Amino acid sequence: MQEKKIQVTDESRIKGWDADMAAIIDRSAEALKQNQKSEGTTKARVRDLTAWTPVEEVILNRRSIRAFKSKPLPDFMIRRILEAGRYAPSAGNAQPWKFAVIKSPEILAAMERDAVKMAKILMFFLDYGRSKFRRIFLKPWTKLIIRFQVNQLHPVPFGLLREIAKGNTLVFHGAPALILLYEDRRGVSNPATDIGVCGQNMVLAAHSMGAGACWIGLVKLLMYYPHWRKFFKISFPYKLENLIAVGWPKVKADGPVPREVQLVEWYEGGLGTPPRIERQGA
Ligand SMILES: Cc1cc2nc3c(=O)[nH]c(=O)nc-3n(C[C@H](O)[C@H](O)[C@H](O)COP(=O)(O)O)c2cc1C
Repeated sequence: MQEKKIQVTDESRIKGWDADMAAIIDRSAEALKQNQKSEGTTKARVRDLTAWTPVEEVILNRRSIRAFKSKPLPDFMIRRILEAGRYAPSAGNAQPWKFAVIKSPEILAAMERDAVKMAKILMFFLDYGRSKFRRIFLKPWTKLIIRFQVNQLHPVPFGLLREIAKGNTLVFHGAPALILLYEDRRGVSNPATDIGVCGQNMVLAAHSMGAGACWIGLVKLLMYYPHWRKFFKISFPYKLENLIAVGWPKVKADGPVPREVQLVEWYEGGLGTPPRIERQGA
């Protein structure tokens, strides 16, 4: 029996995490044994699954990095990250995307300045938590606006906007390079999904090289400014809803952000049989 390797970084030790990993690895080792018993040929096709594959390790250990060294990644690394995006699958292979790399310190500073300014403007009108007066008069209006902007003003981005407006955090986290992910609305089916797949390929590629990356949906703050829409050439068919900040991590990220346990329905017994429910996660 081969030694069981569970590669979990020290920083990722949180309650339940190791147990999750060990349970999943155990299950795959057991499944592998069963497979080998029932199908002699499987052994040749299935790799050693008693440890995480390099791809799984990158997926499991990746964290959003929000503090970067000022020195940018070399261009060849950025090109490799772009290549991982270019090779992403997309509905009908439409590849409904276009990329731009921002490395100019002048442009990066102007983007940060204007994004913070917009966060302050929005919070001036929406943040009802700052005084009793605001709670009485502003809260009903804010709640109404939130109802029409459920996703954009979800409590998480709302809280983040509040912190940005107070000057407690940055929008682009001081990253020395930003990769803009333009969405081409002429794509097949749902181009936003394709953008997600493409961007995540880039994030994982960056992490696999020891670089850090963070999705920044708050780039939308800049889309309120006609001059930024013009500068980035955002008009039909393009839309800019996300970018990826990349660079060398300044500090090691702390443990993984906990994930919800999923109750997964496994349909295995035919149309008349209810699914078996399995807990995925500790
Ligand atoms: C589409 C998308 C947009 C995001 N936008 C932001 C953002 O604007 N600012 C930010 O700091 N993090 C942003 N994030 C990162 C999430 O907050 C992060 O992925 C989540 O908290 C889980 O943490 P982890 O990535 O470290 O596992 C975004 C993530 C995604 C997928």
